[in-house]
Amino acid sequence: MTKTYRIAPSILSADFARLGDEVKSVIAAGADWIHFDVMDNHYVPNLTFGPMICSALKPHAKTAQGVAVPIDVHLMVQPVDALAQAFAEAGADYISFHPDASAHVHRSVQAIRAAGCKAGVVFNPAAPLDVLDWVIEDIDLILIMSVNPGFGGQSFIDSALRKIEDARKRIDASGKDIRLEVDGGIKIDNIARVASAGADTFVAGSAIFGKPDYRSVIDAMRLALA
Ligand code: DX5
Ligand code: ZN
Repeated sequence: MTKTYRIAPSILSADFARLGDEVKSVIAAGADWIHFDVMDNHYVPNLTFGPMICSALKPHAKTAQGVAVPIDVHLMVQPVDALAQAFAEAGADYISFHPDASAHVHRSVQAIRAAGCKAGVVFNPAAPLDVLDWVIEDIDLILIMSVNPGFGGQSFIDSALRKIEDARKRIDASGKDIRLEVDGGIKIDNIARVASAGADTFVAGSAIFGKPDYRSVIDAMRLALA
């Protein structure tokens, strides 16, 4: 199977004082998606940005040729539904949530899709994939956390590789077009290993925004994937 890989820089590690410019720069450097980490200081021990920032960035999420670049919203919030709705209205393309943060996972998935967005479910390092038995038919994305959510710059947790392999088997068995995304500790030197396990979409925050030349990092990641 040939895969179209996607690189999704996380603006969690961008310069918050210049977010619009950072989004433009990383798109000019070759970003496929913009990963938008929403933290509520409740589900995770950190607080970031909400739907108003997403609306403000939406006009910047396009290439120089004017092609829209998807905004990939990763909700680390509890409860899920009201904020998911607000992000749909703010221009999100993908909205993913942690099943353990929603009392009614199936309803949350349906609500995201009814709002016109693609829906994803996210699995923490110690979370089993069992919920996929019941929602895989209805989702567009599975996001495997390879760090505990809340902060950028952490080290990749190797057990995520086994979970990616398991998720890939489930996607292939479903016959559905579902992206398999990985989030946390992705670097130039481990991205190929993560792809071999079955991932096709890679979030990278500190690896990209922590270096002065975003393009050289994204190019090196693509080279490692080739
Ligand atoms: C962590 C976030 C990540 C974070 C990854 O909770 O979900 O998206 O930005 O950062 P790095 O790539 O630095 O591990
Ligand atoms: Zn994330």
